[in-house]
Amino acid sequence: MKKVLSGIQPSGKLTLGNYIGAIKNFVTLQNDYACNFMVVDLHAITVPQEPAALTEQSEAVAALYLAAGIDPNKANVYLQSHVMQHAQLGWLLTTLTSMGELERMTQFKDKSAGKESVGAGLFVYPALMAADILVYNADLVPVGEDQKQHLELARDLAGRFNHRYGDYFTIPEPYIPEVGARIMSLDDASKKMSKSNPNPGSYIALLDEPDVIRKKISRATTDSGREVKFDPENKPEVSNLITIYSQCSGLSIEEVEKRYEGQMYGPFKKDLAEAVVSVIEPLQQRYREIRESGELRQILRQGAERASETAEKTLQDVQRLMGFVVK
Ligand code: TYM
Repeated sequence: MKKVLSGIQPSGKLTLGNYIGAIKNFVTLQNDYACNFMVVDLHAITVPQEPAALTEQSEAVAALYLAAGIDPNKANVYLQSHVMQHAQLGWLLTTLTSMGELERMTQFKDKSAGKESVGAGLFVYPALMAADILVYNADLVPVGEDQKQHLELARDLAGRFNHRYGDYFTIPEPYIPEVGARIMSLDDASKKMSKSNPNPGSYIALLDEPDVIRKKISRATTDSGREVKFDPENKPEVSNLITIYSQCSGLSIEEVEKRYEGQMYGPFKKDLAEAVVSVIEPLQQRYREIRESGELRQILRQGAERASETAEKTLQDVQRLMGFVVK
């Protein structure tokens, strides 16, 4: 069975962008692949985290995975820090990575821009991400558009290792959805929707109250036109809203356009809000049940145990190939 690996950082609130670009696809893929879905807490600490918040957010992301429909009997759900082989392979791959490659990463450039002091962890972040993927020899990595460059590096590192030490790693393929790989901010369609945006009106958090979601959508920026038409170049705001509508309703882009032909933005936005709420409300209900059930830690432990078996085997193979004295 082919293997899938992906992860989400437990930093701040997860957004509808994370859901559409990533989690929704995790849920689909779990039926046909051997899946590992992690909460990447080791990546989260590449920027300062308040300890209590890290604990809470890590559990929240894991619970959101389950609430969204990931079945822990089909896929391994766990915390990255519970499978230490990620960090161990991460170090080995860091030594194969050049400074130039890391300097070219746009996420690093964005996150470090204008900062007086930048942590070394933020710099080597993509080598750890490559280890996340390669430690399971994953075939497919479902991510949003913004992770494409990191994935390219993972592919390069796999190829470099294979060239130097013998053919071992599978070269992973990105799985980037055709629609919804880059959900944009509600207030500015030139920026991606992000949990780190200081303006909460710019994103829909998966744990926003339904009325807050309705308000945010009613205030979302549109344009001075009046056509509900998908045209990312000339109507980026409206196109983004159509994408969200399509992803939350199951209608195609064309079907959404057709439904609102000759109508103004008002009714479209109203229905859009209901489409989003109809996805998020049941998810929140399940989220609360999972948090209250007290079963989460056990699920995470089991997920980590199962994932560790493959990860340990890979690590030992890699160490042997690199010439380490194996225990
Ligand atoms: P992170 O935590 O920033 O985002 C998690 C996932 O959500 C996607 N995403 C979006 N998709 C569409 N529209 C948006 N506005 C949007 N915002 C975020 C991201 O592309 C991602 O798929 N480095 C990764 C985490 C990671 C990882 C991995 C991913 C660590 N190791 C191994 C895959 C494989 C990150 O920071 O994602």
